[in-house]
Amino acid sequence: MTDVSSSSLTILTGASRGLGLALARQVLQRGGTLLTLSRQPLQALAAEAAQAGATLIQWPQDLADAPAAAARLAAWLRGQGPNAYASATLINNAGVIPRIGALMDADAADLANALRVGLEAPLLLSAAFLDATRTWAGPRKLLNISSGLGRRPMAAQAPYCAAKAGMDHFTRCLALEEAARPHGARVCSLAPGVVDTDMQHQLRSASPQDFPDQSRFAALKNQGHLASAEDTARRLLAYLARPDFGAEPVADIRDAS
Ligand SMILES: NC(=O)c1ccc[n+]([C@@H]2O[C@H](COP(=O)([O-])OP(=O)(O)OC[C@H]3O[C@@H](n4cnc5c(N)ncnc54)[C@H](OP(=O)(O)O)[C@@H]3O)[C@@H](O)[C@H]2O)c1
Repeated sequence: MTDVSSSSLTILTGASRGLGLALARQVLQRGGTLLTLSRQPLQALAAEAAQAGATLIQWPQDLADAPAAAARLAAWLRGQGPNAYASATLINNAGVIPRIGALMDADAADLANALRVGLEAPLLLSAAFLDATRTWAGPRKLLNISSGLGRRPMAAQAPYCAAKAGMDHFTRCLALEEAARPHGARVCSLAPGVVDTDMQHQLRSASPQDFPDQSRFAALKNQGHLASAEDTARRLLAYLARPDFGAEPVADIRDAS
């Protein structure tokens, strides 16, 4: 029998900035192997990986082409073998808010891109991950970065709300499927709270005419209610490490003790 490696594998989408970049940095500090799928690989991350003694693989990957990304991930995972890593985790973090406004005013290509990156890619990457690692020896976890807006409707946010609601619900389905399997993966769709990233900037920079809730997002920033990406990443990774990770397939980091 082949020995199981002691090294962990984390796969992360959207590591170029915001929450994804903070997650990537903290995963690298823990060592092991990090595979990122981002449109732009970052030189700075490579340097941080070398310093931390971690292995970093950066794939330049546009997640709007989800079938290509999923096929590439499946092939790569199959090439690793069931004992290559002590544990395997997929974090679907990349997300897009298309131009903010009423659905009837939206551009079709912009809508399609948001749904491809925000829903199709996480679904297809989850399928590829669960299939290719089903015989792996170590624990497998799937963390989908969702949003409160997947659970609460908001005018001018229909495509983003739809993508996150879809993410929550497919995660509930996966939780049932994996619970019925021996050595099934543990899965969770987790809302990260309000985080000080470009996405929040996009929300508070929208026109109040197009976005009735614009002033609420401006106030969140002005009143200092945004969490930093670094602090949120720390909390998300701590949640991922909990022994009961996956007990709730849909959760909010703000409710975590
Ligand atoms: N910030 C918040 O308050 C908040 C609240 C709730 C949920 N979230 C969720 O948290 C996650 C991270 O958000 P964030 O705030 O860090 O947003 P962000 O700063 O806007 O970053 C979005 C990330 O997604 C990537 N991405 C977008 N389109 C892509 C594509 N076609 N292919 C590959 N990557 C793509 C971006 O890469 P590029 O650099 O290539 O564009 C970037 O790395 C998202 O799922 C978001 O919905 C955020």
